[in-house]
Parts: sequence; C-alpha cells; structure tokens
Amino acid sequence: MALLEVNNLALSFAGLHVIKELSFTVEEGSIASLIGPNGAGKTSVFNCLTGFYKPTGGDITFNTKSIVAKKPHKITQMGMARTFQNLRLFKSMSVLENVMSGMHCRSKAGPVGSVLRTAAQQREEAEIKEFCETCLKFVGLLDARDRIASNLAYGDQRRVEWARALATQPKLLLLDEPAAGLNHDEKQQLIELINKIRDELTITIFLIEHDMGLVMKVSEKITVIDYGEKIAQGNAEEIQNNPKVIEAYLGKEEDEIG
Ligand SMILES: Nc1ncnc2c1ncn2[C@@H]1O[C@H](COP(=O)(O)OP(=O)(O)OP(=O)(O)O)[C@@H](O)[C@H]1O
Ligand SMILES: [Mg+2]
Repeated sequence: MALLEVNNLALSFAGLHVIKELSFTVEEGSIASLIGPNGAGKTSVFNCLTGFYKPTGGDITFNTKSIVAKKPHKITQMGMARTFQNLRLFKSMSVLENVMSGMHCRSKAGPVGSVLRTAAQQREEAEIKEFCETCLKFVGLLDARDRIASNLAYGDQRRVEWARALATQPKLLLLDEPAAGLNHDEKQQLIELINKIRDELTITIFLIEHDMGLVMKVSEKITVIDYGEKIAQGNAEEIQNNPKVIEAYLGKEEDEIG
C-alpha cells in the first residue's frame, strides 16, 4: 500500500516552475529516496509535503487522506515528521528540551493548563519527558540529554533533530540530506540508524541525499528529478544504469553517481 501518493504536483514562484507535474508513491514500510542535481526541486517537494509551501497544482495523499491544503502542524499530527537540510535546533536549549519541543503537537495541555499545572498535566509532562528520553536513547544520545544543544558536535546535533522528529511518533519520516557534513564513520552509523528506525519502529523513510553510496545502499526505490521533473524511478541498479540519470548528473561536479 502507498503511504504517500503524489499526483501531478506543481509548484511555481513568480512564473518559475520549480516542480512540474510530478507523480510518485512511497510504499508503507519502505525506505525510499528522492535524488537529483542541486536546485532540482527536492527540498521544495518536502516543503509541499509538509505544508510549508502551497502547491500550485496536483494532489498529495498521505495515509489515504489528502493533505494538500493542510497546515504544517496538522500534517505533523497526522504522522509526518521531517529533518531539515540545515540544522534547526534551539541553540541555547538543552538536548532534551529540543526533543520535547517536537512533541507540542501531541500535548493536550493548553496555555491555561500549563500555568495551573494540574496533577493530570504534571503527569502528562512527565510522560512526555520519559518518551523523549526513549527517543534520545534510540539515537544514542541519552547521556547528552542535559547538555546545551549547540555545544554538541555537528553529527550529534543532527541526531538531536532525528530524536525530535521521532518524538512526534511519525508514520513517515522525511530526511533532507541526512549525511551532509558527516564523516565516514558517522555515515555508517546513519545507515544503521535508518534501517533500525524502519525495522524496529516500523516508520517509513523518505530521504533526499547527494551521497550516492548511501542512497544506493539503503533505498528500495529511488525517484530522480531534474529541473522539477521526474526523469527516472527504480531500484539502485536501475537508477545507476539509467542514461537519463547519468546525463543529468554529468557536469554537475558535487554529485557522483556510482
Ligand atoms: N521560496 C522560494 N522562492 C523562490 N524560489 C524558490 C523558493 N524555494 C525554492 N526556490 C527555487 O526552486 C528551485 C529548487 O530549489 P530546491 O531548494 O527545492 O532544490 P534542491 O533540489 O533541494 O537543491 P539542493 O540539492 O541544492 O538542496 C531553485 O531554483 C530555488 O531557487
Ligand atoms: Mg535541498
């Protein structure tokens, strides 16, 4: 079953067509990737999926419901979480507080309740804290929970974002360039973590990535876009041997296929 279905998605800014009639699906329980040269429109696709951008055409169905006009927090509530291409942590907050900030969409206590702090709300907060600690443990950062987020190494800060996304209890996790800036060992750990999230938490994963070695290792299905258009779709072997993909990447120095 398709957990995510994108049909004829279109997006333009002042006449510039960033996404053109794009259609693809992400199967429930799979690890899928969206690749393409710089500026192809990958992050814009994520921004449409998560409600940050309003598409100019097409439809997006998530878990059998259309989400195309929904607000970002509503889409998070429905079970879609993301990490960003550039780190977006609250720098002066602790690691645990950053993870807890991701859970506000699930918290029942309103502003009045937060001030009065009834016994029920205190219990809820304790449960949230405990669950966030479980998420930190899952990404291997429990020991760092009380440290100020900006004091962590870059790779660890990225994992705080992962824990924050996991804390929203998503069905689908979108990762925008998760390997960017990571060293070789951290990339290996990343591959393990991606597989562990899918296998142990049964969360579907859809990632954007320029590291082709990583993409080919983890992805069951790869969608390739160039200038906002789908140029290929298939498994690692099919994509690596696709002449259109090779052509799209030729002359684009940062990306190497194979
Ligand atoms: N808010 C915006 N306003 C105007 N143009 C935009 C906006 N967001 C994206 N674009 C344009 O859309 C195109 C695709 O950008 P996008 O960031 O989606 O590419 P990308 O595939 O994620 O690239 P990269 O691999 O470099 O991250 C670019 O030409 C970009 O300038
Ligand atoms: Mg991008």
